[in-house]
Amino acid sequence: MSSLSVNNLLGIKYLSNSDINLIFSTADNFKKIINQSIKKVPSLRDITIANLFFENSTRTKLSFELAEKRLSADIINFSSSSSSVKKGETLLDTVNNILAMKVDIIVMRHPDPGASVFLSRNIRARIVNAGDGSHEHPTQALLDAYSIREKYGNIKNKKVVIIGDILHSRVALSNIYCLKKLGAHVSVCGPSSLMPINIQDLGVDHFSNLQEALEWCDIANVLRIQLERQNLKYFPSLREYSMTYGINKEILNRLNKHITIMHPGPINRGVELSSDVADSKQSIILDQVENGVAIRMAVLFLLAGKIKDN
Ligand code: CP
Repeated sequence: MSSLSVNNLLGIKYLSNSDINLIFSTADNFKKIINQSIKKVPSLRDITIANLFFENSTRTKLSFELAEKRLSADIINFSSSSSSVKKGETLLDTVNNILAMKVDIIVMRHPDPGASVFLSRNIRARIVNAGDGSHEHPTQALLDAYSIREKYGNIKNKKVVIIGDILHSRVALSNIYCLKKLGAHVSVCGPSSLMPINIQDLGVDHFSNLQEALEWCDIANVLRIQLERQNLKYFPSLREYSMTYGINKEILNRLNKHITIMHPGPINRGVELSSDVADSKQSIILDQVENGVAIRMAVLFLLAGKIKDN
């Protein structure tokens, strides 16, 4: 069996093209299984996984948990709000105590960029980064790219624009790495105040005009405005942001073509997307969520294979 070139999923930056394609082909098999009447396989029956969420999550947390259950893993869930982290325990002490209970894989969301990389240098368990601050969100990028591949058959030469708060977005960075590795043309669009100054160094073009960006693209991946990460005011008001960068049906109808709309969730309805766009046939937002389970099953299955290798 093929195996990943990495022992942990810390970011898309560390994956090879073969790794990404192996995750996709493994997810293809799991997607077939989770659409059958018997959705569960015994693949991870002897594996214990701890889901450590130091930051809020709906989709990622539930999707990992379901993926683990579909694979028959034993799971424990940890939420920082009800833990001894509140009493001042360090991240490393917390994780080492959890590992003492014979845990094999850590899935971790953390508000600090680099938290997963730090852990990988200090512990022996396999680690999956479920989002670290404004750094990376690798399983989101994998499920996004997988959803594009599912809709179009391939990713090479597709034109993808990522719209919104690029500066604070781990989804943007992971998507840029993933889509570029797979041969897509990637652009970003948003106010210059929400654009990293070195964005061109990542090999992407920048549109400041939404209509031009939408005319250019095949696919628009629209990001949430992350008010919780903005300690400064980056635009005058949500209303003005929405008037300049919000996508509604009228804007889509003005285009000479049919583009695909994506969003990682959670959506601020009426800010970055109107409801008639979010819920339209052009939107593949719920396909992204469905594919997230198959992608996470694939990632966990392949990393569990590395435990046996070592
Ligand atoms: N897409 C995503 O990461 O959503 P959650 O914050 O709900 O996990």
